[in-house]
Amino acid sequence: MLKTKFKIARILTVAFSVAALQLSGLGASAARAQAPKRVIIDTDPGTDDALAILLALNSPEVHVEAVTIVAGNVTEPIGLENALGITSLAGRCDLPVAGGARGPIHGTLVVEPFWNGANGLGGAQLPASRCKADPRFGPDLIIDLVHKYPHEITLIPVGPETNIALAVLKDPSIVPLVKGVVLMGGSISGGNVNGASEFNVFCDPEAADVVFNAGWPVTMVGLDVTEITLMKNADVTELEKNAGPEAKFAAAVARFQIGLYQGTGFGGGAIHDALAVGAVIDPSILQTKAMHVDVETAGRFARGETIGNRHGTVDKVIPAGDHFESVGVNPVQPNVDVAVGIDSERFLKFYVARLQGK
Ligand code: BDR
Ligand code: CA
Repeated sequence: MLKTKFKIARILTVAFSVAALQLSGLGASAARAQAPKRVIIDTDPGTDDALAILLALNSPEVHVEAVTIVAGNVTEPIGLENALGITSLAGRCDLPVAGGARGPIHGTLVVEPFWNGANGLGGAQLPASRCKADPRFGPDLIIDLVHKYPHEITLIPVGPETNIALAVLKDPSIVPLVKGVVLMGGSISGGNVNGASEFNVFCDPEAADVVFNAGWPVTMVGLDVTEITLMKNADVTELEKNAGPEAKFAAAVARFQIGLYQGTGFGGGAIHDALAVGAVIDPSILQTKAMHVDVETAGRFARGETIGNRHGTVDKVIPAGDHFESVGVNPVQPNVDVAVGIDSERFLKFYVARLQGK
């Protein structure tokens, strides 16, 4: 009985939200969607991770099958506690939230208190968690769910790609069974940790290398689009109007980010991870270009850089006596759809509307 009530409520929610989506102008394609897309969010919450999770939980076009935690912005135990706090806030203790990798495949964990505040959430407070962690290891849960729903799961990694890589390395048979990977990470126009590397890829380049080259469809929502989609005070003021607990929390996180980013030269807060979720809800917010992307796993200055081949070719170079010479070009196969453009204003309006329950 309870189950039936829940189903009816969900169908009504989908119907109303699709109507609202049409009104708010975001995504005719999403509005036409029949059934919610099954997604797994792999995350290191993390300020913008929290905003991303809340967007997914407030969007009927996606059904979050699990949240898996990876060390990144914060250590894995703090990330797990934050994720459980977020699902508590959203009243979603039914959702499996599982701990995962506590550090990269190689190298030493780097966490980011400067960018996320001491609690990882910019000081924004969550109620004490009522939800309990799923006992499974994140990568194992990913493997289980992909086999349970073959060809249906979209993975949304918004932290270092360690958990996803561990899942692929343990069970490569998941690769053709995953519908797609829409990740926040990388950049083809410079880094944020340093001149070359974006944080998530920088944290675990070997893992990113596995994920980018696994052979499944990958969409890279990188700094190229996330650093030009900046939440401003006016957006947050809108978000705070008649705000419920989730919107209030999101607003507090966003205010922290805006202050922080302005202090580092940006005109607003970059809510990176929320864009990857937005791109799954409605791929039409992005313009993408198919490219071959390599991950630099060595290098003095550029470990963790994602190098996009914009022309789809590499020079064909042959030996000629004591030197080499180019005699043409060889094509390279694209492995990633790189987000190269975004309708930032539409996305920000959409984000605010969704957190207000519209
Ligand atoms: C990415 O790194 C983290 O700081 C954010 O949560 C985001 O996933 C941006 O480079
Ligand atoms: Ca993140």
